Amino acid sequence: MVRFDIITLFPNAFDGIFSESILKRAQDAKKVVIHIHDLRDYSADQKKRRVDDRPFGGGPGMLLSPQPLFDAIKKIKGRRKAIVIYVTPSGPSFSQLHAKRLTKLKNLIIICGHYEGIDERVREQLVDEEFSIGDYVLTGGEIPAMVLVDAVSRLIPGVLGKDESLVNESFEANLLEGPQYTRPADFRGLKVPDVLLSGHHKQIEQWRQAQAVQRTEKIRPDLLQKRRKTS
Ligand code: ADE
Repeated sequence: MVRFDIITLFPNAFDGIFSESILKRAQDAKKVVIHIHDLRDYSADQKKRRVDDRPFGGGPGMLLSPQPLFDAIKKIKGRRKAIVIYVTPSGPSFSQLHAKRLTKLKNLIIICGHYEGIDERVREQLVDEEFSIGDYVLTGGEIPAMVLVDAVSRLIPGVLGKDESLVNESFEANLLEGPQYTRPADFRGLKVPDVLLSGHHKQIEQWRQAQAVQRTEKIRPDLLQKRRKTS
């Protein structure tokens, strides 16, 4: 079981994603526990529930202040050991390997940033890992937090219906998944490749492998480079 505690200014943003489909099933089965915390509940100023302020030295935008984040993390951690993750475009790129590693941890606290970011003292004192979900800037850390929870949760044993769903998928062995087809074999004249209808398992496997390599070469040659280095 992995427990996620998400600290956010927009707790409602998570409602839909976490209450549907596989993530809902995973929570019902207690494989995943998700707690959403409203950062404003931890503001020392409960009248205005203020959590942000202007950056020292000037500059545009607002920063999340240290006090609400320090207090939130202390309270959420309690006596449990937890890893604190901050999602930010200035972190290293989140990958399938990171997702796999995180499934081994029991308690993950995710800070969703907003505005221009968070006070550096939170990063120095409390944050254990930082991740970016890609080279673009989003309006906040909520979507990256959802991405992280989703990518980690589906790798927890028993979360996906069949364990086979985890093999042969994109990024396993740094290969993208090749083309797949379902019925009908002839859809308005568009035919499924003969080899897939042949029943020759070995030939099908070879065809799939060749297609995966071809697609990776075309779309993500950088992955093939990594593959050559590791094999
Ligand atoms: N917050 C805003 N943009 C982000 C990104 N690309 N990755 C992670 N957190 C973010």
